[in-house]
Amino acid sequence: METRDAEVDIIRLLKESSFQGNGPGGYVSGQKISQGLGISRSAVWKHVENLRRQGYSIEAATHKGYRLARTDLPFNGIEVASRLCTGFIGRPLYFYPSIDSTNSRARELAGAGATEGTAVIADSQSAGRGRLGRSWVSPAGSNLYTSIVLRPPLPPSEAQTLTLMAAVAVAETVAEWLGYDPILKWPNDILIGSRKTAGILTEMSSETDRINHVILGIGVNLNSRSSTLPEPLNRDATSIMEMSGNEVERHHFTAALYSKLEKWYKCYLDDGFDGVRRAWQGYFGYKGRQVTVSGHPAVEGTCMGIDERGALVVRTKAGKTERVVAGVMTVQ
Ligand code: BTN
Repeated sequence: METRDAEVDIIRLLKESSFQGNGPGGYVSGQKISQGLGISRSAVWKHVENLRRQGYSIEAATHKGYRLARTDLPFNGIEVASRLCTGFIGRPLYFYPSIDSTNSRARELAGAGATEGTAVIADSQSAGRGRLGRSWVSPAGSNLYTSIVLRPPLPPSEAQTLTLMAAVAVAETVAEWLGYDPILKWPNDILIGSRKTAGILTEMSSETDRINHVILGIGVNLNSRSSTLPEPLNRDATSIMEMSGNEVERHHFTAALYSKLEKWYKCYLDDGFDGVRRAWQGYFGYKGRQVTVSGHPAVEGTCMGIDERGALVVRTKAGKTERVVAGVMTVQ
């Protein structure tokens, strides 16, 4: 469901009143809300009903009005929207308690004309998709699954560099929560130590010479416990909470991630890929390592980093420099 501005405003008014002190507090009259928002009292009532369906515990009392009965906040579009500091990423915002895949929903919205920055978030995905036809395990109540519609004025051949741009934004955000830098693995993995904590699935619709839209699908393991995941994820994956010991507030992390994405996307469009490339290489953990990159044929050699178009550069034993544009990189 699309997050409504009026509901973000009602929650802001209720929080201002209820969170004075440490617990549930004062009421806000229906009249104050209706005047503040310029809507009728019955519209206020309908929004309050809708807010309850989105997980808020709102009490209503005759002659007093409404108040938030509990201070624990649900994870929903309103909590993300009220923390947004962006100009266009996350505007508008669609939130679903459960969906097949946020990428599929974002693609539908983009096909129907959604503007650049439109974002979809789900609490859980029943058919979350990863790269190379893999699935992305997406349990409820713990992680972030989001997809963002972009409409870059770029040729389709450059779409892959947007994955690297998004990886820098994710890495910077993860670093803020973790207190140290995660590691990027080409092309789209964000690792803590040797275990994956986030991945990016970029999907595109294009004409021969221009991109119609790109969907940046981002999954970040924030609070999941790897012991609850199926094999081999219980060994290969981790979450920020698992590595830092602190639970991550999902709405806060999401709003921060959208700010970083907007910053790096603007930097990419204004100044080109080079700044993104340098930042990406700063997080890249495999320079100088012996790697194999799958493909026909597979490429083996010393990993040199990425070039000015985002391809992985590998120097083979024969001394040849190979550019690899797609594949899975493994460390020998
Ligand atoms: C990968 O590392 O293979 C990419 C994983 C991408 C997962 C995210 S979760 C949100 C979005 N919706 C999907 O179905 N996939 C991406």
